[in-house]
Amino acid sequence: MNKIIERCTEQVIEIYERFDASHDYDHILRVMKNAEDIARVMPDADMTVVRLAVLLHDIDDPKYKEAGSVSALELLDAAGAEDGLATKVLETIKSVSFNGGNEEEIVSIEGAIVRDADRLDAIGAIGIARTFAFGGARGRKLYDADEIARTQMSEDEYRSKNTASVTHFYEKLLLLKDLMVTEEGKRLAKERHDFMVSFLDQLNAEIGAAK
Ligand code: ADP
Ligand code: NI
Repeated sequence: MNKIIERCTEQVIEIYERFDASHDYDHILRVMKNAEDIARVMPDADMTVVRLAVLLHDIDDPKYKEAGSVSALELLDAAGAEDGLATKVLETIKSVSFNGGNEEEIVSIEGAIVRDADRLDAIGAIGIARTFAFGGARGRKLYDADEIARTQMSEDEYRSKNTASVTHFYEKLLLLKDLMVTEEGKRLAKERHDFMVSFLDQLNAEIGAAK
């Protein structure tokens, strides 16, 4: 079993070298640690499934996938995972996606752990750093005051592709705290959420935007 994890790790390290700093291999290491912290109080979790799902959870993300690049299933196959294990890992990964808040229902404890672990890395101080790294890599503005005001009025308008980085807090990151599934995830999310709120309060005060 460890061999499968080892082989997938080698491939994932190589693949992540192409991604920007919001999504480098350190993201995987942090999500792995979060998953282990959450799973510590959930002894029934299958940690092989959790670890493989953490390693592979962003491989098929359309934001990062290039034409012809290898899929999570292909990596699992190549690493020697049997069909049953591969299916479990792919199901776990499927439940990670945010999808505008219309996410898949959590069907397994492994799915709950990996989803919460990934979301913890999207919020708090590290979430702030990643958001500006992502926006910077795509040449986006730091903020757009009109956009911030609009996101607080309407649910629909802000989902356009070219939003400024700060808008992403309002469209997604501030919602994550209430979407955590595990008790430990909820607990860990609270401090990170509060830190983001105080960052945004300070930012809005400095730039004079509507709060
Ligand atoms: P994750 O790997 O945590 O699921 P995503 O794949 O959604 O995160 O995005 C990677 C990182 O880029 C996250 O930290 C996220 O906050 C950030 N990000 C995603 N979309 C945007 C956006 N439209 N503007 C700014 N940052 C974004
Ligand atoms: Ni991720």
